[in-house]
Amino acid sequence: MRIRKAVLPVAGLGTRVLPASKVIPKEMLPLVDKPTLQYIVEEAVEAGIEEIIFVTSRSKRSIEDHFDVFPELEQALERKGKLKELKALRHVQTMAIYTSVRQPVALGLGHAVLCAKALVGNEPFVVMLGDELVAPETPCLQRMMEIHEKYNGSVLSLFTSPPELISSYGIASVQDLESGVVQVSQLVEKPPLEEAPSDLAVAGRYILTPDIFELLEKTPQGRGGEIQVTDAIQMQAEAGHCYGLRFSGVRYDTGNPLGLLTTSIAYGLRDPAIAPGLREYMRQVLQ
Ligand code: G1P
Repeated sequence: MRIRKAVLPVAGLGTRVLPASKVIPKEMLPLVDKPTLQYIVEEAVEAGIEEIIFVTSRSKRSIEDHFDVFPELEQALERKGKLKELKALRHVQTMAIYTSVRQPVALGLGHAVLCAKALVGNEPFVVMLGDELVAPETPCLQRMMEIHEKYNGSVLSLFTSPPELISSYGIASVQDLESGVVQVSQLVEKPPLEEAPSDLAVAGRYILTPDIFELLEKTPQGRGGEIQVTDAIQMQAEAGHCYGLRFSGVRYDTGNPLGLLTTSIAYGLRDPAIAPGLREYMRQVLQ
């Protein structure tokens, strides 16, 4: 079944980038000239996603506003003849259908996904985490969708984690099926290094089959006292319905100050209008 919907859980407090994220959602912090979240929505649209479902919270209203119409601004841009800016603004509003649902209490990522149950309905869907970007030249969602088509289960994107970061990720035990494709047999959320079943970590891109909602409803609190999506996917893995893509492309973590800064530089270097000036500045400061 073609995947049309993406759930973007954006209700988190963003404590790793405080105080920047006190009144501006961390997903709205800019990289060059767009909020980080816009890159994620563009990644989804590029992979053929038509509907974006934001799982928000009360302090995150600006996220819905960013993707909504702003008639006064459009009129002002039109009057001033700023047609390029107007086109860019309209593109953001129209590239997908946007819906949103509130996560009333922060009970974890699994709970956030469960909040989208009614909006997703009975179809497979993508989950994209808001503090992780995938470089546009190494996309992974399309390949994950192909794996889903072929094997008909949930699909995770997996990467090799350095030992010191194992306890920050969901960790998978896998068997290879074909080049770059694995069957996931076990998943553990943020295990201590010595208990990790492997060094393959779950990245912030998932394809989930809709039975995940029933599983989430019966998932007890897990790591950190939260309802973990990893624990519900583990039930799918046990039943033989979870697959993975060994993703070797480039990921950026924008959920911490250093990651935000290095990702800004990486995206600045990709932008032909910014790159020459940025290179020159870096040449000067690194001398
Ligand atoms: C979440 C998931 C974890 C996954 C990670 C990827 O953790 O719970 O399994 O490996 O995202 O970024 P978080 O980073 O939200 O704590």
